Amino acid sequence: MQSQTVDNIDQVLLKKASAKIRKAFGELPDTAIILGSGLGILADQLANSRTLATKEIPGYPASTVAGHRGRWVLGDLSGNTILAVQGRIHGYEGHNMAVLALPINILASCGIKNLVVTNAAGAINRFYAPGHFMVIDDHINMNFSNPLFGKNDDKFGPRFPDMSAPYDPKLKEKTMQIGRELGIKMHRGVYVSVRGPSYETAAEIRMFERLGADVVGMSTVPEVIAAVHRGLKVVGISCISNMATGMSDQPLRHDEVTEVAEQVKGHFLQLIAKVVAET
Ligand code: HPA
Repeated sequence: MQSQTVDNIDQVLLKKASAKIRKAFGELPDTAIILGSGLGILADQLANSRTLATKEIPGYPASTVAGHRGRWVLGDLSGNTILAVQGRIHGYEGHNMAVLALPINILASCGIKNLVVTNAAGAINRFYAPGHFMVIDDHINMNFSNPLFGKNDDKFGPRFPDMSAPYDPKLKEKTMQIGRELGIKMHRGVYVSVRGPSYETAAEIRMFERLGADVVGMSTVPEVIAAVHRGLKVVGISCISNMATGMSDQPLRHDEVTEVAEQVKGHFLQLIAKVVAET
């Protein structure tokens, strides 16, 4: 049997989806934000907002996770217009990585230049605690897959994208500075991405610690790889929702994600508003 090379981007669907976004929102800003678990509150705070349900976007998979409302919201945050993606899709919902990259490809095809990615994450680093924030300095992909797997469209980006600086160095520095000025407990570290949905075992966390990871989560990396491919400027911010398995004597609960997000939402909104102004 002849093997088949997969098309990782369905161009027809991408064109239709991008056309839908442009029609719904008109002129778009330069910056979009992907809102992580529990962090969707930001979309509710946007002034003069306009909303599009993701079920209206051709080819867009439905979000099945509690705390992830499937909609895109355009609006103003402290005077800066942003496009917020609320209702991230995850690999553990059964999607392959090319599907996880679809929102990024839509954003890039609509002319978005800067991407702020946010997530909830478990702390592996012993100096971190729930409620702290971490600027993603670098990442480790433990999904054993890649959103760019398959044919490459050279119009979109190179076959072998350089990953020596996936997160913009200046924006990382600036985000740290803004956070500190706001009195937020800020760290800068390495995010390891797993597919989930089961949380990690204590042995896996010890392994990740030895590999150099500071936090663990089930998102972000597939999106960032796609964003780097499309030439977007990226900044990543993790909200620590819990200590990772074995780092405390508590079992993990998904509710912690929303509980901690609720506690830190003031800081989160202030931080993002200022970071967006810097993009
Ligand atoms: N592990 C994986 N993903 C997560 C965690 C965790 O501990 N916390 C929030 N997302």
